[in-house]
Amino acid sequence: MPRMERFRVVGGARLRGDVHVTGAKNSVLKVMAAALLAEGQTTLTDVPHILDVEIMGELLRRLGCGVDYDPASSTVVVDVPAKLGHQADYDLVRRIRASICVLGPLLARCGEAEVAMPGGDAIGSRPLDFHIAGLAKLGAELDNEHGYIIARAPGGLTGATVWLDFPSVGATENVLMAAVLATGVTVIDNAAREPEIVDLCQMLQQMGAKIDGLSTSTLSIEGVDGLSPTTHAIVPDRIVAGTWAFAAAMTRGDIAVHGARATHLEIALDKLAAAGARVDLLEDGFRVRMDRRPIAVDAVTLPYPGLATDLQPLVMALNSIADGAAMITENIFEGRFVFASELARLGAHVRTDGHHAVIRGVPQLSGAPVRASDIRAGAALTLAGLVSDGVTYVSDIAHVDRGYPGFDGQLRALGADVTREPDPDAALYG
Ligand code: UD1
Repeated sequence: MPRMERFRVVGGARLRGDVHVTGAKNSVLKVMAAALLAEGQTTLTDVPHILDVEIMGELLRRLGCGVDYDPASSTVVVDVPAKLGHQADYDLVRRIRASICVLGPLLARCGEAEVAMPGGDAIGSRPLDFHIAGLAKLGAELDNEHGYIIARAPGGLTGATVWLDFPSVGATENVLMAAVLATGVTVIDNAAREPEIVDLCQMLQQMGAKIDGLSTSTLSIEGVDGLSPTTHAIVPDRIVAGTWAFAAAMTRGDIAVHGARATHLEIALDKLAAAGARVDLLEDGFRVRMDRRPIAVDAVTLPYPGLATDLQPLVMALNSIADGAAMITENIFEGRFVFASELARLGAHVRTDGHHAVIRGVPQLSGAPVRASDIRAGAALTLAGLVSDGVTYVSDIAHVDRGYPGFDGQLRALGADVTREPDPDAALYG
């Protein structure tokens, strides 16, 4: 068991300096799964140094792959054997939900897959019905036995039109990775078009897959007989980049975010400009400066290119110290509002009703012990601590470490008084 730790955050600093963003967590786990589609050695670069990559690596090892993860060079090499195992166990799947994305590739490569159901998590129940219906459209038979999804396609998969009820990121990825080796043409309508999906499509194309409609909500995939391993650089993490943008605006700071793509954050950066920040584009990213109390901004989360649900806690944290009142509508994961009650412990005025939240800004928050319920909530609470009077303790920071490589070190480099320490109350949480 990793030691339970917390952040001790002393409010007051205005963050200034440069940060460098690495590859996206939400892309690397999927492209590691995509490596399963081709026998041989696939090399991934710009891999973030986070625990989830190690867990996904362990999952691929248990399927028979060689996995060499070198955090120093941000590289993962996956060596895929001719004959793969087809079972992904609960002990790993429950730790990273994204491991459900091995279902499509295993079904395509082995004609069968047994993948543990990941279960719910802190941001809602997160069902898998679109994944299952989509793979069934391609001819797979799927059952749920003893906590596992058992999928079989003994005669192989056949292309079909799959209409997703909602542009689910995970379902799009699973159906896409199954379709690249299916017989005939698959069309995924109402597909998700997040930059991480485009990244996955580009890697699959490099492997020899035939995919049209990248960046649109209709993906057309012509199945091929086999794919070849490749080398691929992971797309920059837009959520980490966006977090630094909000950090600058909240703390009235000045942060240059390098290695980021502003085009992946258009609405978020626009919100910050509306809140009074100055946003400038750089050759390799953007710079956000703020020299006043933020103005409250309304926000609505939507599938890409809408505002990312993963940035919603940051928008709420910004509004908690803004001049005025704002309404936030969360359309993707209602459970993310669990964060609002932790923010209220710091003195924020937030009321939630269903998928709406109303936030009335206060001039300053007041430091208190709070608990991170998920990755983004943990980052947002840490930033809220920086704009609080006194000391804030953020517990359960294992969540933060899952999404933000070296978050506390980067905050210190920007001038924040943030330290990592053992959590004396950890035993109370069980
Ligand atoms: C991914 C991201 C997550 C991000 C989310 C939305 C990863 C590892 N995680 O999660 O950070 O917040 O996209 O951008 O990439 N749904 C169903 N049935 C399904 C599948 C989804 O009802 O079969 C619903 C979900 O409950 C949710 C919505 O669809 O309300 C979107 O979920 P989805 O896009 O699938 O999110 P994830 O892929 O789990």
